[in-house]
Parts: sequence; C-alpha cells; structure tokens
Amino acid sequence: MKIQVSEALDAMAKDYSQRVIDYGSTAVAVGWADFETQDLRFKQLQKVIDLSGGGFSLSDLGCGYAAFAQALPKEMQQKMRVYHGYDISKEMISVAKENFKNNETHQFFLSSDIQEKTDYVIASGIFNHHFDAEPKEWWAHIIKTIRHMYDRAEKGIAFNVMTSYVDYQEDYIYYCDPMEMLRVCLDHFGRNVSLHHDYNLFEFTVLVKKGNA
Ligand SMILES: C[S@@+](CC[C@H](N)C(=O)[O-])C[C@H]1O[C@@H](n2cnc3c(N)ncnc32)[C@H](O)[C@@H]1O
Repeated sequence: MKIQVSEALDAMAKDYSQRVIDYGSTAVAVGWADFETQDLRFKQLQKVIDLSGGGFSLSDLGCGYAAFAQALPKEMQQKMRVYHGYDISKEMISVAKENFKNNETHQFFLSSDIQEKTDYVIASGIFNHHFDAEPKEWWAHIIKTIRHMYDRAEKGIAFNVMTSYVDYQEDYIYYCDPMEMLRVCLDHFGRNVSLHHDYNLFEFTVLVKKGNA
C-alpha cells in the first residue's frame, strides 16, 4: 500500500534513529556501504564550495551524525565559520550534538526547515529511500526540497540522488532520471548547474551556483 510523503518521512526518521542507536557514528548507520563511499559522495558535494572568497557558512540538510562536517578537508574546516546541521531523526541530532559538543561554530536542529540563510546548502542521501511513497509524489517532494535549499542559500547548493542508469532496482529506492533532473534545475535555478555522473556509484551529484558565486 502506498503512503503519503509525510508518513514516509516519519518512517525514515524512525528508521535512522534506530540505526544510529544500533551502529553509532558510522557510515552503516546512515545507510552507506562504508566510509569510503560516504566520503566519495562528500567529495562531490564539496565541489560547490569556493574558498577564494575566504570564510563560508554551510547548512547540511539531513546531516545524520554530521559526518560531512567531520570529513571536510583541513582547509575547509578552517574556513568554515558556521555549520548548521538539520535532521528529522531525533537520535541523529543528539549524536551529532555530542560529536561537536565543544564547538560553537556547529549547531544542530531537529527539523527539515532551514531557518537561517547560509552561503551553501548541501544534502547527501536524503532522497534515496521513499519508504513506499508514490514515486510521483516523492519526485514532487524532491523538487520542493531543492527549491527550499536554493531559497536558503546565498551562493549555491549541492545534493545527490540515485540514478535511473542502474543494472537492477530495489522497490524502496527512488531512481532519478539525470536528464529530467538537469532540465528541472536549469528551468528553476538558471544556467549555473553542473551534474556529475562520473564517480562510479549508482548516483549523481548536482551543483547549482547562484548568480556570480
Ligand atoms: C542516508 S542518511 C545520510 C546522512 C548524512 N547526510 C551522511 O551522508 O552521512 C539521510 C539522513 O537524512 C535525514 N533526512 C531525510 N530527509 C530529510 C529532510 N527532508 N530533512 C531533514 N533530514 C532528512 C534522515 O533522517 C537521515 O538521517
């Protein structure tokens, strides 16, 4: 039986809360095979960050236990003035807070609603499991979410999705057509869009830069 997107998100929050209780601050807790593939994803997302302007602020939607912040290269860590992590899983947020408890630049929110604008907004892995929501409605949820990310970013956004170019499919995963995604981003966000489908995982990363950023 198909469920509403809101019910899917509730199921997802529950699932990830249990996973972080079971597996702690590990790639497996956030559904990735291992640290290497998690980090490979982060490296694609980091490409949106332009360090030539000096310091930057960043929001991480669906931050999990804040692995993205932990894995940033040293130069980026030093230049990051603000990191806001958002997640719908209560347990993920409390583990993330614990991981950065003595760090004032890092703040965490139990929410999917990005409150403050930051230079960049990124999201890794938040669109993959649709938990039996209708694919059409999940696609609408993806577009609404990336629109929200774009509205809250001063300089750019980056996110990943599973690709429809796969050799098999699981029925709980949302597989996105890269051509369709590129068209939507160009239509909604202007011409400064790049799509990276070249890092040997069954997914792709989209970077959108704003204006002169
Ligand atoms: C696959 S995990 C990835 C976590 C982290 N980005 C990483 O790569 O290590 C996805 C996380 O996103 C959260 N999530 C999914 N949709 C969300 C949304 N719309 N807003 C906030 N958090 C969301 C889930 O609760 C889960 O913790």
